[in-house]
Amino acid sequence: MRVELSTTYLGMELRHPIVAGASPLTGNLDSLRRLEQAGVSAVVLPSLFEEQIVQTELQLDALYEYYAGTFAESLTYFPELREYNTGPRDYLKLLKLAKRSLSVPVIASLNGSSPGGWVRFAKQLEDAGADAIELNVYFVPTDPRMSSEEVERRYADLVAFVKNAVSVPVAVKIGAQFSSLCHFARQLADSGADGLVMFNRYLEPDINLNSLQITPHLVLSTRNELRLPLRWIGILRDQTSMSLAASSGIHFPEDAVKLILVGADICMMTSALFKHGVEYVTEMVREVENWLEINDYVSIEQAKGSMSYSNCPDSGQLERANYMKAITSYTPMR
Ligand SMILES: Cc1cc2nc3c(=O)[nH]c(=O)nc-3n(C[C@H](O)[C@H](O)[C@H](O)COP(=O)(O)O)c2cc1C
Repeated sequence: MRVELSTTYLGMELRHPIVAGASPLTGNLDSLRRLEQAGVSAVVLPSLFEEQIVQTELQLDALYEYYAGTFAESLTYFPELREYNTGPRDYLKLLKLAKRSLSVPVIASLNGSSPGGWVRFAKQLEDAGADAIELNVYFVPTDPRMSSEEVERRYADLVAFVKNAVSVPVAVKIGAQFSSLCHFARQLADSGADGLVMFNRYLEPDINLNSLQITPHLVLSTRNELRLPLRWIGILRDQTSMSLAASSGIHFPEDAVKLILVGADICMMTSALFKHGVEYVTEMVREVENWLEINDYVSIEQAKGSMSYSNCPDSGQLERANYMKAITSYTPMR
């Protein structure tokens, strides 16, 4: 008997929980098609950045002012000019192509941090066919006068703004560094978020000692990073009706199984697909299914959340993770 692998994410029925997360691997049609052939159940396009949208709008405004000041009749060109968007325009093109060519749901991603008109672009993503929108709020608070409450309010306001603009579901991709993550999650739900993607991996900077310049340093994840979403999805699962997507450190089928057991609706993969190729999805899905079958689960829904915080025999393990015992019994490898 095969296992029923279907799962629900943001109200969408997916064939199974393995989804391609946002990255350049979902940034062109060829790669998207290969992902679909390999069996992903949905794709998240790479993010369109606030800076790309704002930059384009600024260029258009300057162009508009120039022409409007030169010829009065140029005002009639305005609508066409407005639609001329290089960054955003290409993004919409990719989204439309993906929707036309793929049968799996296509989630568009917006990445930004400041409240503002750029968020209205979400509506254009919806009109271009996005099945859902992932809002990646990449914000590094550096101002000592800004309280945690203000930071959280900024996220909540952005979510409310996007939700107002669209009718498709909206998921928020967050980092793990909030002092009270469960309270924050509730705030996002109250603002209308339909799901959380846990977690964003922030790019930590590095220094190039030859040029003495700060350089961005992108490294792929390792499976050790799985522990963070494992803990927090386990804790949040029983507290929220929002969809929960796991992202970070999913490299092997067992990793996906663990996240499903604590309550993830889907597992987003990126680094492992860079390492093993997009065809690796096929093996992931097959092996997740095998594990469930061997362990007598009939469906993903049966397994989902069966080891969440309140279902865990020792839920304290998800909190302090048996901290004292772990550090006092540690023996270094020789
Ligand atoms: C090269 C690369 C590009 C990425 N681009 C985006 C992006 O545009 N938007 C986004 O939300 N996340 C982006 N991510 C983050 C991934 O979607 C994912 O959340 C993160 O890598 C953790 O998952 P993993 O452990 O499977 O890699 C990117 C990651 C990589 C490695």
